[in-house]
Amino acid sequence: MENNRQANPINWFPGHMAKTRRLIEQNLKLIDVVAELADARIPATGRNPELDRLIPDGKPRVLLLNKSDLADPAANEAWLAHYKSAGLYCMLCDSKNRVSTKAFAALVKAAAAGLLERRARRGTSGMPLRVMAVGIPNVGKSTLINSLAGARRARAEDRPGVTRGTQWISIGAGLELLDMPGLLWPKIETERQGMLLAFTGAVRDDILDIEHIAAALLRELSETAPAKLCERYGLENTRGKSGAELLSEVARRRGFLLPGGVTDTERASRMVLDEYRAAKIGRFTLETPPEKAEEN
Ligand code: G4P
Repeated sequence: MENNRQANPINWFPGHMAKTRRLIEQNLKLIDVVAELADARIPATGRNPELDRLIPDGKPRVLLLNKSDLADPAANEAWLAHYKSAGLYCMLCDSKNRVSTKAFAALVKAAAAGLLERRARRGTSGMPLRVMAVGIPNVGKSTLINSLAGARRARAEDRPGVTRGTQWISIGAGLELLDMPGLLWPKIETERQGMLLAFTGAVRDDILDIEHIAAALLRELSETAPAKLCERYGLENTRGKSGAELLSEVARRRGFLLPGGVTDTERASRMVLDEYRAAKIGRFTLETPPEKAEEN
């Protein structure tokens, strides 16, 4: 039972998934290009393969590896090369700082080259390309829309009498963005996938056993980046220590003590997760691309 609970830290009930699926399917009819966002720290688990089944064959799509500022720079390049070699139109982005409309438009237009050609033949080249951003919770869909639309979106909302419904925001370069992201549910089939989603904040912390998550993260970082972990928390070494032991040590080092000198591991857990998510421990990517390009 315990394992089950950890493997499925979010309850995406069938009804919820069906509603989400229906919404995406409805919106897909209105748009020309799907812009899928995935967290660059978990470029495989951060995607939901169900999207492949939802998007009709031939509908142009692009993949944005967002939060690349939090991920390992070398791994960013490796994943970008991996997805490109699998035939995807892919770019790295950091929506929180700035997304280049020019680079985004170039990617979207490359993916939609066939459609643009057909429009040119029909003499309808002036039509904007309509794009929808989709992705799992917290991946940065709204932030991307704000970054690309910014002031134009705010202006539209401020205008009296402008009701919110399906709204399109012109972002320049012949592109219009649907002012409502498509929410995908996370794919959680294994405990590991549940953990990766929890580490990166794709799952709300209040439904998680955060001490379990923080201990697992410390254990993982103690194997992949022991020096950075020691440096951040003043640990002498991490050798042979369990996640729970590391968590307790971090709590002690930070002076998180409860009456009686017991370590406040809950407080330490929140801090470790916050610091990991803000890349204060370092920039880590938690998955490596498969040897052969077998995904798309
Ligand atoms: P969603 O619509 O897909 O659910 O995600 P949303 O845009 O709300 O973004 C979720 C969180 O991720 C936000 O942080 C946002 O600032 C952050 N974020 C989005 N894109 C990036 C990125 O490329 N890099 C970094 N470092 N962060 C990004 P928050 O803590 O919820 O809010 P706030 O701290 O920005 O106020």
